[in-house]
Amino acid sequence: MTEPLIECKELNEDKECKELNEDKECKELNEDKECKELMEDSGCRNTVLDIDLSSFGILEGISETIVSTGFEFPNAAPIGIIRKSGRPFVRLFKGSHTWANVSKEKYLAANVVYDPLLLVRSTFFDLAISEFEFVPAGGRSFPVLKEASAWVVFKCVNIKNTDQALVAELVPVEAGFNEANMKFLPVPNRGFNAVLEATVHATRYQLSRDEKYLEWILHYEELASKCGGEKEKQAMELLYKVLGL
Ligand SMILES: Cc1cc2nc3c(=O)[nH]c(=O)nc-3n(C[C@H](O)[C@H](O)[C@H](O)COP(=O)(O)O)c2cc1C
Repeated sequence: MTEPLIECKELNEDKECKELNEDKECKELNEDKECKELMEDSGCRNTVLDIDLSSFGILEGISETIVSTGFEFPNAAPIGIIRKSGRPFVRLFKGSHTWANVSKEKYLAANVVYDPLLLVRSTFFDLAISEFEFVPAGGRSFPVLKEASAWVVFKCVNIKNTDQALVAELVPVEAGFNEANMKFLPVPNRGFNAVLEATVHATRYQLSRDEKYLEWILHYEELASKCGGEKEKQAMELLYKVLGL
């Protein structure tokens, strides 16, 4: 039996494989015969090839996750992970911490979170360092949220910058579940969805000061209090406080 050349987590340090990776566009990695064989030969579970995003809740369309970034100074904010024909990518508007961290470090983690209060807190405030845990990625430790039911760390490739935003394709490099946070089955809830919508409108209101967003927020607030639980109500209270309403 061939001795494994490399451990999976050491993939990034493996010269031969790294060179191959750098030679090719990451998006072509799946189709790259030579690299695939090398990885299979090595007994390496290549996370790039193995991670099935759907089983981590990241499906076709836009998955509203909380994205963590920043090897050194962890940050978290709600960001949509977009999947089109299976391929994941992200659009980050200029000026946010997330945008700055991804521009600099080229890594992000999508955290699957069902907590409406954490959604609002991470939109408008810095989370405490104690709310993150660190997982191996990119040869270093990367922050993910302790509260996440599942997380996927992505390398950002083919980054395109426009005046307003950057768009990056995403290559999954590590992923995990947090069993402790999966005690209940998440069932569609209009209250949670209403908080999500209201928070999106709140970020738009902050940018534009367009009053139409306030009307929509009011509408979603009613829905959140009618269909949501205690956490949805707390989340909306915080949102109103942030907007000074
Ligand atoms: C549900 C939701 C989805 C969002 N999706 C994105 C997105 O895909 N891209 C983006 O740049 N901002 C998105 N935002 C806005 C950012 O979360 C917001 O600007 C945040 O304050 C950025 O925080 P940061 O400076 O800590 O990165 C979204 C907000 C919400 C509530």
